[in-house]
Amino acid sequence: MEKIKKIIREEAPPLSAEIKKLAKEYGDKVICDVTLNQVLTGMKGVISLLTATSKLDPEEGIRFRGYSIPELQKLLPKAEGGTEPLPEGLFFLMLLNRLPTDDDVKELSKDWASRADVPDYVFKIIESFPVGSHPMAQLTSAVASMSIDSKFRLAHREGLIKKDYWDLTYEDVMDLIGRLPRIAAYIYRRNYHDSKFIDPDPSLDWAANFAHMMGYDHDEVRKLFRLYLTIHTDHEGGNVSAHTTHLVGSSLSNPYYAFAAGLAGLAGPLHGLANQEVIRWIFHMLDEIGTQTPTKDQISEFVHKTLSEGQVVPGYGHAVLRKTDPRYMAQREFALKYLPDDPLFQVVSHVYEVVPPILSSIAKIKNPWPNVDAHSGVLLLHYGIKEYDFYTALFGVSRALGVLAQLVWDRALRLAIERPKSQDLAWFKQKVGAV
Ligand SMILES: CC(C)(COP(=O)(O)OP(=O)(O)OC[C@H]1O[C@@H](n2cnc3c(N)ncnc32)[C@H](O)[C@@H]1OP(=O)(O)O)[C@@H](O)C(=O)NCCC(=O)NCCS
Repeated sequence: MEKIKKIIREEAPPLSAEIKKLAKEYGDKVICDVTLNQVLTGMKGVISLLTATSKLDPEEGIRFRGYSIPELQKLLPKAEGGTEPLPEGLFFLMLLNRLPTDDDVKELSKDWASRADVPDYVFKIIESFPVGSHPMAQLTSAVASMSIDSKFRLAHREGLIKKDYWDLTYEDVMDLIGRLPRIAAYIYRRNYHDSKFIDPDPSLDWAANFAHMMGYDHDEVRKLFRLYLTIHTDHEGGNVSAHTTHLVGSSLSNPYYAFAAGLAGLAGPLHGLANQEVIRWIFHMLDEIGTQTPTKDQISEFVHKTLSEGQVVPGYGHAVLRKTDPRYMAQREFALKYLPDDPLFQVVSHVYEVVPPILSSIAKIKNPWPNVDAHSGVLLLHYGIKEYDFYTALFGVSRALGVLAQLVWDRALRLAIERPKSQDLAWFKQKVGAV
């Protein structure tokens, strides 16, 4: 889209100059002290990344370029007759720091649809996996394979100059986002629906088309996909998938490699894989208790058992948040509106009442509240998307929008290659006077 490029072309140079000036004039100012605890607990709270797309407040939750989820549900353009924001609109906002018009969003939909052709070799790579292989392994490999065609990679080899890095990065990013739903849907249909593939419908918006290619055309599924693919896009720069994409991208790896690395991070059970683990845990609980409608006492007993076995309760806790995740609440509101009587939603609601007091009673747990993953599975299950080991792939398709919008700015502002300093244990002991 020429409008998007024009804005970045105009806004990047002064912003880049401002950063250079800031570094020159204030580069020696201390912005954050680091304690030994922070080093030993995954660098929590260490301010060391420049990220523009979103910001996470521990109490309030995520804001995308300053807007909360409820605000975005009001302000972002919707599909005709739709009630949920279109992910295209959030991408536009994250990338350009301004709310899109209806036309901007329509144009973006069209642009992504025009880039949705997936090279044949990608399908062949997917087909080389045994049917039933985990979708994240297939998705990560499929994305990495497209590095062959990376416009950034090819241009860089031919001597691309630094000020144009962002332009070719943007082209790769838009191609990748255009192709992702097709690739993920292909993995889904091959794994779980006897390879009965469904052609894209370019007249649909990005999320509705994704649902369509997976085999779901119900209006409520479209609404759910628009919501789901909006709220999972971004969660500040330090989470594993965002940070990994940025880190790998900082070496000037092409966007396909950078995002494949981010997806590999998302596939961990403490991060994006938690959405499938939540459903696996709930099914295990129902199975073990022997009922589809467990009481709160029965749930409580099962939670205690999970903890006594040294397992985490999936979908609860967060590295930054200290309150119920607003992404959880947005999904709960969807459930209350469209599936209030779903028995599994009742279970999820009971779990929400039971788990926080139990986790609160354990001193070491900093956040007893549910995160985004505690709710997403029940919504998908309601509409028949029962193959829960696919859920993280859905998350991954959405996460592309945030981390790749940021990658364009990483290149436009020419952020440096990342290289923090590491030390061994002896050094840390000496530093804190423990020897
Ligand atoms: C998200 C998560 C990884 C954050 O980890 P963290 O930043 O280390 O969180 P905390 O500082 O609160 O963890 C302190 C301790 O409490 C434990 N803890 C945190 N959340 C827990 C949970 N839901 N169930 C049981 N134990 C939990 C941690 O495992 C850690 O134990 P340890 O010191 O024995 O290793 C963690 O809360 C978790 O594992 N949650 C379940 C998985 C999940 O839902 N992930 C998706 C996140 S969006």
